[in-house]
Amino acid sequence: MLKKMTVRDLSQEQLGGKRVLMRVDYNVPLDESGQVAEDERIRATLPSLAYLAGRGARIVLMSHLGRPNGVRVPSLTLRPVATCLADLFDSPVEFSPSTTSKEVVAASRQLEPGSVLLVENTRFDPGEVVNDPALAVAMAALGDLYVNDAFGAAHRTHASTVGVASQLQPAVAGLLMERELENLGALLGEPARPFVAVLGGGKAGGKLALIEHLLDKVDRLCVGGAMACTFFRAMGYTVGKSLVEEDLIEVAEALMRRAGEALVLPNDVVVAHELKADAETAIVASDQIPEDRMVADIGPLSAEEFSQVILGARTILWNGPVGVFELEPFAAGTQAIAAATAEATQAGGTSVVGGGDTAAAASAFGLLDRMSHVSTGGGAMLEFLAGEALPGVSVLTDRQRPRR
Ligand code: 3PG
Repeated sequence: MLKKMTVRDLSQEQLGGKRVLMRVDYNVPLDESGQVAEDERIRATLPSLAYLAGRGARIVLMSHLGRPNGVRVPSLTLRPVATCLADLFDSPVEFSPSTTSKEVVAASRQLEPGSVLLVENTRFDPGEVVNDPALAVAMAALGDLYVNDAFGAAHRTHASTVGVASQLQPAVAGLLMERELENLGALLGEPARPFVAVLGGGKAGGKLALIEHLLDKVDRLCVGGAMACTFFRAMGYTVGKSLVEEDLIEVAEALMRRAGEALVLPNDVVVAHELKADAETAIVASDQIPEDRMVADIGPLSAEEFSQVILGARTILWNGPVGVFELEPFAAGTQAIAAATAEATQAGGTSVVGGGDTAAAASAFGLLDRMSHVSTGGGAMLEFLAGEALPGVSVLTDRQRPRR
């Protein structure tokens, strides 16, 4: 059970008519016309919103969007997000073009119970990313208590995720935050075995710490994606035109020695001259990658081997596509992983899937809703699973007594 208080620990008196300042992670992709292209992170906060609105709270939401570097970047306004939220949520949703100001404090006081006010992008203020105490105080004026439902931003020590929580108590977890911490925490606790992790995606850099931590926990670890090339190099293979983080080859070598049989690398790969939809492809053994081609997917034998490992598992963590699944010639490996994970889940296993690219892949193959838990976190999920404390969680109020 979580050591931190959640909204469910708050009484009706603590919520009814009160202004709840809730940090959410609405850092969502926008399309060319500036509208929300993918609303999963917004939908994921609906349970908390419904919970608070149902108890008559007046809800003030804040989030970042993109990385505007402390200046107002018109294309990164949260206004379209407010429009999207208004379509998804049953109560009125207002938008404030400022994040902290006398006007927005007044607007928060005028909110009707059950209604929502989304304030402008917290990162338009240079104080946000440096956790400026003055900004945290100004943010705290927007609520009577603080809720953090932004699991995706909990690894950031920012004014809206950490500073404000010291100013406004109680500071509790929202329902999404709680769900994420419980599902991801279970992987690090006593997962049903065999426990298998499948890691892919671009850069190895962000994931080696995760591999290091997971090696003690998992029974098998399948590695695909561009990251596999770093391991190929550590094995002395050449990888053609594939990009490799040269400085990580030694680390990969040490990890391979430590992992032994637990590490499953692709024995065959799909290669191409270029990453494009009509690329000419070839399947080669991993130690036969031609000099003028790059690795773009795991090969069919490896897809089958990874799938068998997944099908034999009772707990599966999948982070990162194993190929460039957005392009048809390189999608088969990732599709096989998604299908095997869905099948293992159906058979009674538990699957945890994230971050954004992985969820997008599962969604592209129509299998997203067949996973047990889809994390809204990218970097936050990696840091949490690598065993690091998340500052946005550490700062929340500890639970004093068991929940009634
Ligand atoms: C994410 O998309 O992973 C979170 O919203 C954090 O965004 P950031 O990496 O820009 O801090």
